[in-house]
Amino acid sequence: MTENARRSAAAVQARVPGFVPRVGIVLGSGLGGFAERIEDAVAIPYGDLPGFPRPSVHGHAGRMVLGSLGGQRVVCLQGRVHLYEGTGPEGVKTLVRTLKLLGCEILVLTNAAGSLRRDVGPGSLMAISDHINLLGTNPLVGPNDDDFGPRFPPMADAWDPALRAVLGQAAARRGVALAEGVYCALLGPAFETPAEVRMVKLLGADAVGMSTVPECIVARHCGLRVVGCAVITNLGVGLDDGEVSHAQTLNAAAGAAGRLEALLTGFLEALDP
Ligand code: HPA
Repeated sequence: MTENARRSAAAVQARVPGFVPRVGIVLGSGLGGFAERIEDAVAIPYGDLPGFPRPSVHGHAGRMVLGSLGGQRVVCLQGRVHLYEGTGPEGVKTLVRTLKLLGCEILVLTNAAGSLRRDVGPGSLMAISDHINLLGTNPLVGPNDDDFGPRFPPMADAWDPALRAVLGQAAARRGVALAEGVYCALLGPAFETPAEVRMVKLLGADAVGMSTVPECIVARHCGLRVVGCAVITNLGVGLDDGEVSHAQTLNAAAGAAGRLEALLTGFLEALDP
């Protein structure tokens, strides 16, 4: 319901009058610590924001943090919704459209993902160059809200090449290794079978996960520019003999979190003022 995004944006504006964020940042599983870096931070629990999720997955805190970082006004979402939670696409639409209504122009998406490339192993960071939607659905299914965007939004350059270049510059400047690749979203919550991992690899994906693509689609629909980074927490099932579990995802994400935080801070500093 669009109404939830409007009410949530109004609730945020009542807490931080006159504050207009430019960059929205969604922090994936185990990556919420980035929000601790924000200066003059104001945190708002999702419970205070109509239509925001009560995150059910361990590793997602469920609050919005507004403030400044790297010379930019930012709003961080510590906690997202996944379609596998079964509550439909409304939650994703509310999160992303609230950021749009607050004034954001840019959306930074992060996630924990499995790699389909042995040369990009656990702990690596991968800039998302494009996506494949294998969720079996699309968050824009249903009546179109013309106030936000067109019925048939284009998805060429869904992942903004210029912003990705800025991310690459930030990586070089900070000495952070950054791979680049195509992210494929599957519905989950079951992890992939080895055959499914071989399939998505054949289709041209470099990483696989259960999030991010719905947010990108809703964001492009309403004209936000999108840039993203996957934190590789494991190789895809069957590509090695390691095991995949949520605990292992959180653990590996924690190990890479410092580099992701440096990368994102560098990105914010490198953006045009
Ligand atoms: N598959 C799906 N989602 C994931 C994975 C994976 O291997 N790793 C972290 N999130």
